[in-house]
Amino acid sequence: MRRYLVAGNWKMNLGPAAGRSLAAAVAGSLKGRKLRGDVLVCPPFVTIPAVAAAADGNPLLLGAQNCGDQDGGAFTGEIAPSMLKEAGVSYVIIGHSERRQYQREDDDLLVRKINLLHAAGLKAIFCYGELLAERKAGREREVVRAQLEGVLPRLQYADPYNTVLAYEPVWAIGTGETATPEQAQQMHAWSREVAGRLLGEQPAASLRILYGGSCKASNALDLFSRPDVDGGLIGGASLKVEDFVGIVDGAEASRD
Ligand code: PGA
Repeated sequence: MRRYLVAGNWKMNLGPAAGRSLAAAVAGSLKGRKLRGDVLVCPPFVTIPAVAAAADGNPLLLGAQNCGDQDGGAFTGEIAPSMLKEAGVSYVIIGHSERRQYQREDDDLLVRKINLLHAAGLKAIFCYGELLAERKAGREREVVRAQLEGVLPRLQYADPYNTVLAYEPVWAIGTGETATPEQAQQMHAWSREVAGRLLGEQPAASLRILYGGSCKASNALDLFSRPDVDGGLIGGASLKVEDFVGIVDGAEASRD
């Protein structure tokens, strides 16, 4: 059985002081528990060292929300994957819909970033998902297939242990409107089928596919109990300890 992954995407929230106290509270509530999955928080870059210190020795993994597409040099304002690795990061979110929209990130850039972070020994959480208009037009499967086809076959080192998919329907992100567990399962099964054609059946069967978009403690168990939903990428509900730990509890219960 695939291990679940519950990943908190803090977005542009929580500086070092607030991040440290949230991470310490989350780490404190996970301490000593034998989890059947992985729990990750992805703070803003400047908050990473504070979270690393707070999480030290606890089952709380550290992620980043983005990385540069070069591994160093004259690229003002960018952060190299190897620097993230040195800071204790193990996962990097790539291709979040907010970056696709506001930073105009395209497939070529995403492929460069993922290949580079894989080469640095980091794991990628690759986000994709359809817009509301695309779903209304019944095009969600076609859109998702194109997003996966545009990136997965071009990854040099991709394997199920260093690549995680995150299906995030854009209409569900930060809107309070969650995909139903049936909708999520349908799209996850479809993603796995497409990934199977691109990467092979065996790797696709081992690939973890997260759901993202208004996931909360009250719907986590139902979502994560579906056969192809291997956890969640959590925005708003990752900012409060009881909400986030409630989602981890849902993930644990989904494995009972
Ligand atoms: P949300 O965000 O949980 O606030 O909808 C999810 C995400 O953007 O990853």
